[in-house]
Amino acid sequence: MTILDGKKTAADIKEELALEVVELKNKGKKVPHLAAIIVGNDGASLTYVNAKVKACERVGFESTLIRLPDDTTEESLLNEINILNVDSDIDGFIVQLPLPKHIDEQKILMAVDPDKDVDGFHPTNVGKMALNLPTFISATPFGILELLYRYNVETSGKHVVVIGRSHIVGSPMSILLSQKRRIGNATVTITHSRTKNLKELTLQADIIIAALGIPEFLKADMVKDDVTVIDVGITRIADSSKKSGFRLVGDVAFNEVSEKASFITPVPGGVGPMTIAMLLKNTLLACERKN
Ligand code: GUN
Repeated sequence: MTILDGKKTAADIKEELALEVVELKNKGKKVPHLAAIIVGNDGASLTYVNAKVKACERVGFESTLIRLPDDTTEESLLNEINILNVDSDIDGFIVQLPLPKHIDEQKILMAVDPDKDVDGFHPTNVGKMALNLPTFISATPFGILELLYRYNVETSGKHVVVIGRSHIVGSPMSILLSQKRRIGNATVTITHSRTKNLKELTLQADIIIAALGIPEFLKADMVKDDVTVIDVGITRIADSSKKSGFRLVGDVAFNEVSEKASFITPVPGGVGPMTIAMLLKNTLLACERKN
């Protein structure tokens, strides 16, 4: 069994990005600049956004964090987005999700200039992704592709079962892995809460992408020997023995499933760190395309 070490792979990618920044500087070129907008005080979202900003600093990117109060109106958020859209120093930016209930998420995502949409959430970029055209692939699916690539996991001709159909992970993952691309050419089954015979399907899977958000959902009796398992879940479970008061649990019962798997991602330290590295990669790409 091989652990797909997202923490180490993400560190490798960030090292590569840092070298590219040095090269850009040596050539007198602009350094990539990522901005992030966060609305409200959700603890998990703040942690993620801060990690993104810190990662920028570590690789030598510029970063701007815009914190807006919980009661920010849709109109003023749209205004902030517009400011970033026209600011030529900003190469890419993200609006951290979820947004407060009174704000229409889709309307916000559609206001982001697709050329600065390093999250790849704008319908223009989702459409390009679905057509296998050059675009920004959103960070989590992009990170999973990169992890599979760097560990030489064969996907061509394999049966992939994706559990979950979210716009951020399940849906794009199923599209990407079925495409004719470096990591792709798989036969993909996408499953969700209405799927009737899930275990029957997962038992046939060569590769399982678990992205449903239910802690330790995927058990050993649901997978065949030598399966590859990608765990996208990160649920906070209260744990008084931890300084933070919680621990992170994935969608996979790691201890039992890892005994049957050939490759598996841990939680934490699997997919999570990869998403930040790929967001940075997209920001560099945005900067290169713009300049
Ligand atoms: N919330 C959870 N994942 C993401 C992400 O990839 N991007 C943004 N903007 N918000 C998120």
